[in-house]
Amino acid sequence: SKPLNVALLGCGAVGTDVVRLLIEHADDLAARIGAPLELAGIAVRRPEKVRDVPVDKSLFTADGKGLVTKEGIDLVIEVIGGIEPARSLILAAFENGASVVTANKALLAEDGGTLFAAAEKHGVDLYFEAAVGGAIPLVRPLRESLAGDKVHKVLGIVNGTTNYILDKMDSYGASYTEALDEATALGYAEPDPTADVEGFDAAAKAAILASLAFHTRVLASDVHREGITDVTATDVASAKAMGCVVKLLAIAELSEDNRVGVRVHPAMIPRSHPLASVREAYNAVFVESAAAGQLMFYGQGAGGAPTASAVLGDLVTVARNRVQGIRGIGESTYAQLEVHPMGDT
Ligand code: HSE
Repeated sequence: SKPLNVALLGCGAVGTDVVRLLIEHADDLAARIGAPLELAGIAVRRPEKVRDVPVDKSLFTADGKGLVTKEGIDLVIEVIGGIEPARSLILAAFENGASVVTANKALLAEDGGTLFAAAEKHGVDLYFEAAVGGAIPLVRPLRESLAGDKVHKVLGIVNGTTNYILDKMDSYGASYTEALDEATALGYAEPDPTADVEGFDAAAKAAILASLAFHTRVLASDVHREGITDVTATDVASAKAMGCVVKLLAIAELSEDNRVGVRVHPAMIPRSHPLASVREAYNAVFVESAAAGQLMFYGQGAGGAPTASAVLGDLVTVARNRVQGIRGIGESTYAQLEVHPMGDT
């Protein structure tokens, strides 16, 4: 069928790899979708900046609004991050009839309800596998594979930057700042790394996972949050002396009486625990449900290519839905459960 027009919002670490994969995998993507993809434009703050992407410079524009409202845009990929202008652009894309793939955990955890309602209203898709756990399929398993089960706990490491920092402090006694600089250079950290080290990024992801797992709405502000800025080299060394390692954990639980508790904080983990072997910017998430029992998801949780992999996976799904004239899965929130920062435990 006729080509589908794709607009890209943002061209940082993730956006760059999205463009690269769109080009490198063009034939495979077209075959899987049933139509070729055409990159219609890339909206960035500074179009004149020299970027390492193999596309014509004329594709770059500072006018995100103009791009997403252009006639014939079928699919919009949002990898700008943050609340605005991302939210307005996504809403404008829906208004224009486009489906959206986003990696924006902060926005989903603050105002996901508005986005889902708008997607529903305009009969388009909103997919966000890349928002949590980078390359690791987590959103789809929770939304789809486990939809017939009852999930009662989600626990794990969902921030690559802090895991990288804690791992380097543990394995070779790196200083906190030295390790943070490395994580930033490797493209793991958020534009403002405060979001990582203060636990905001993990809290947003925990809120999204809890919402999906328990079919309710949990906001980032509902999450008890403690980052790693108070974790000292001495803390890491004493944990080590006790046969433990310090990890930033995200924990979401559903109690017997259907109360939700979600928290993010550093914790000491025995070295024998599987989470202790999660190194560098890898993430790992355990899911516990009534029938399936325990599941473990593991993989690269941050970085351009791993996150772009998740973006492209969603893009194939929403593009295919478009070719077939169908809608994918919407928000599956069935009841607003009581949410307590610390839960019952
Ligand atoms: N800054 C995030 C992290 C990127 O370090 O995990 C992936 O969401």
